[in-house]
Amino acid sequence: MPLRAIAYASQARPDLAAERLQTLVNDAARFNRMAGVTGVLLHDGQRFLQYIEGPPDGIDPVYERILQAGSHVDIVELARGRLGQRQFPYWSMRALQIDAPKLRQLSTSDWSGFSRTADGDRAVPTAVDLLSEIVRPALNAG
Ligand SMILES: Cc1cc2nc3c(=O)[nH]c(=O)nc-3n(C[C@H](O)[C@H](O)[C@H](O)COP(=O)(O)O)c2cc1C
Repeated sequence: MPLRAIAYASQARPDLAAERLQTLVNDAARFNRMAGVTGVLLHDGQRFLQYIEGPPDGIDPVYERILQAGSHVDIVELARGRLGQRQFPYWSMRALQIDAPKLRQLSTSDWSGFSRTADGDRAVPTAVDLLSEIVRPALNAG
């Protein structure tokens, strides 16, 4: 089954309350589950960075909902492409709080091919490497 992934960054509407954000994520997770989409939503209190992956007929309607959502503006697509296998199969959607420098680092890192550096490679981490580091503690916490 072919898989696609998209990563984007956006600006949260200034009046977006924490409660509303939780409702939005619950709603997103419900829709994504039906669409076979998994991923993660990072938030620093002002900006979002979201990664989604799944089959083309799931990704397309999900991304359309994201583009239509009024809760954020200035959506900038960081990467889009094919995947050999899922990289983040853990949650249909989950919001994780991170600090602003980390989110900025992630939005300016290398997303090309959604690749990881080879194990033991001391080169600069790719975006997917950084995203894995952010996700890991949340996985370990259960
Ligand atoms: C940052 C952000 C991420 C979202 N992620 C998803 C998603 O992964 N899947 C989905 O179906 N909808 C997603 N949505 C859409 C919301 O679940 C919800 O339908 C929408 O935000 C409600 O409309 P409103 O923002 O105009 O109030 C997202 C919306 C925002 C703002």
